[in-house]
Order: sequence, then C-alpha cells, then structure tokens
Amino acid sequence: MISEDIGKKAKIIDNIIESFLPKEEGPAKTVMEAMNYSIHAGGKRLRPMLMMETFLMFAGEDPEKVLYPFMAAIEMIHTYSLCHDDLPAMDNDEYRRGQKSTHAMFGEAMGILAGDALLNYAFETALSAFDTTTDANRMRRIAYALSVLAKKAGIYGMVGGQVVDIKAEEKSADEVTMDTIKFIHENKTAAMIESSLMIGAILAGADDADIKTLERIGSDVGLAFQIQDDILDVTGDEKALGKPVGSDEANGKTTYVSLVGLEKAKEDVAALSSNALSELACLEGSVNEHGIFLKDLIASLTYRDR
Ligand code: IPE
Ligand code: IPE
Ligand code: MG
Ligand code: MG
Ligand code: MG
Repeated sequence: MISEDIGKKAKIIDNIIESFLPKEEGPAKTVMEAMNYSIHAGGKRLRPMLMMETFLMFAGEDPEKVLYPFMAAIEMIHTYSLCHDDLPAMDNDEYRRGQKSTHAMFGEAMGILAGDALLNYAFETALSAFDTTTDANRMRRIAYALSVLAKKAGIYGMVGGQVVDIKAEEKSADEVTMDTIKFIHENKTAAMIESSLMIGAILAGADDADIKTLERIGSDVGLAFQIQDDILDVTGDEKALGKPVGSDEANGKTTYVSLVGLEKAKEDVAALSSNALSELACLEGSVNEHGIFLKDLIASLTYRDR
C-alpha cells in the first residue's frame, strides 16, 4: 500500500530532520523553541521525500553526508514559509499542522523571528554538506544544489509567488486572471517542489537534461498540488487537513477553484499529474524501486485529503 510506504518514509525523514534541529538553549532559547515547535508539528514531509527518492533513483551515494543536510534544509525553508504565511498580516490563520500556528502559540514577533531563523538555519545546515568532502566534483554539486535551493525559495520562486498572492487580494475578482493565478501557483508552491526534485538529482550526479526534465515534472506536480490545496480549502475536513478550511474565501482570495469551478479544477489536477508521470517515465531510473515509489507518490497526490 502506497499510503503505508509514505507513512514509513515520513517517519524516517522525521528522524533525519530531528538530527539537524538546534538545541533549545542560551539567551535566544525562545526562538529555538518556536522553530522546533513548528517543525515537530509534523506535516507530510513531501519535499524531503521527493528529494530523497530522486537522489536514490539516480543511485546517489553517501546520502547521510551530502543529502540529509539538504533534506532538513528544504523542510526548514518550507516550514518558515508556513510560519510567515499564517501571520496576521498574511493569511491570518491560527491553526497549522493540527496545532496552534507558531504566531498563535508564541506571539507575532516570535512567529516572524522563528520564520527568519528557520530560513537562515536552513542554509547553515545545507552548507554543512561541504564539511563532508574535499572532492572537487562533489563540492561543485553541493554548490549547484545550494544555488537552486536559494533561487527557488526567493524572489524568483516562493517569495515572489507569495508577493503576487498578497497583491492579488487587493484586486477585484475579475482583475485576477488565470495567468496571474498560474504565476502565483508556479512560484509560491511549484518552485519548492521543483527544487526538491532537482537537488536530489544534482547531488546524485545526474546530467543537465535530466535535471531540466525534473524541473518540468516539479512544475506540473507543484501546480497540481496547489490546485488541490485550493480545492481542499473548499471541500476539505479541518481535522484531516490540520489547518482551517475557508481561509481563502475569508481573505477574499481569487483561487483556481473560484476561477474555473471545482469540477474543472479537479480535472486539471488529474491532467497535470498524468503529464508529470509521462515525463517521469522517460527517465532511465524511473523503473527502479525508487522511481516506482516516486510515480506512486505523485499519483497519490491527486486524491490526497491532507
Ligand atoms: C502547504 O504545504 C502549503 C502549500 C504550498 C500548499 P503542505 O501541504 O506540503 O504542508 P505540510 O508540510 O504537509 O504541513
Ligand atoms: C501558501 O499557499 C504557499 C506557501 C508558500 C506557504 P496557501 O496560503 O494556500 O497555503 P496554506 O493553505 O495556508 O497551507
Ligand atoms: Mg497564503
Ligand atoms: Mg495560507
Ligand atoms: Mg491554501
């Protein structure tokens, strides 16, 4: 059963992430508690899972040295994006991953600082991969992975998407076009999924053509993932999701669903996902154990309820 395999892998990933979290100590202890609180709440660990399976699909070596710091780093960046996304000035949500959101638990200032700290600590963590090798080729791959990690999380990726998402709230529904929604989805959500797949491949030594293919797969998977997120904001169950439903409507957001309706949105999730799966099938490693898991994982996202 794919859902059992996903659950087992998520537990392994939890332990990997745990080994990189900061000790809660010293005068700034409160922010370390807030960082760890937001990470410990759980979450699907989708991005590190995609990264790990892609790395293994390309038969990458020494995952504990080179890959694990990047798996922890991508989850730290993702978690920071959630801490900030929930702030009163952004989506103003008090519930996340089945518990109080970070600002609701620690206050707004600590919600901001915990996000800042997670972002910075992500790079401290990923940079530690350099300490494990003196091989020039491996060091080049680590540097390339770092540049993808930075770019896809920043103004040309996640942050850029969040900016346009917030700006679109001020516009009336008929001013927000499908192109704008696609830009938002591509950047706020797909960019981090693209980087997860790309970094797994880069660290494993994949060639440029395969890395490009993975970027396209990530774009389709990411768009589908955010459309499904918009669907679940309407049809989902708060308990299963671990976050509020109806948040988009409360914030006056135009979403994929408000633009095209639920049925068409569901069809587009399925079409994007099937596109991603055909592209994946062209990669040489897609028939090994990890390629097959990746395929099942991507397929399972189309009917996720959390
Ligand atoms: C939530 O991401 C934010 C989006 C990009 C839609 P996830 O749905 O992956 O959240 P967690 O990590 O499982 O909590
Ligand atoms: C946020 O999109 C994507 C991020 C970069 C955090 P949403 O605002 O729809 O995510 P949720 O629904 O709060 O998880
Ligand atoms: Mg948001
Ligand atoms: Mg939100
Ligand atoms: Mg949402």
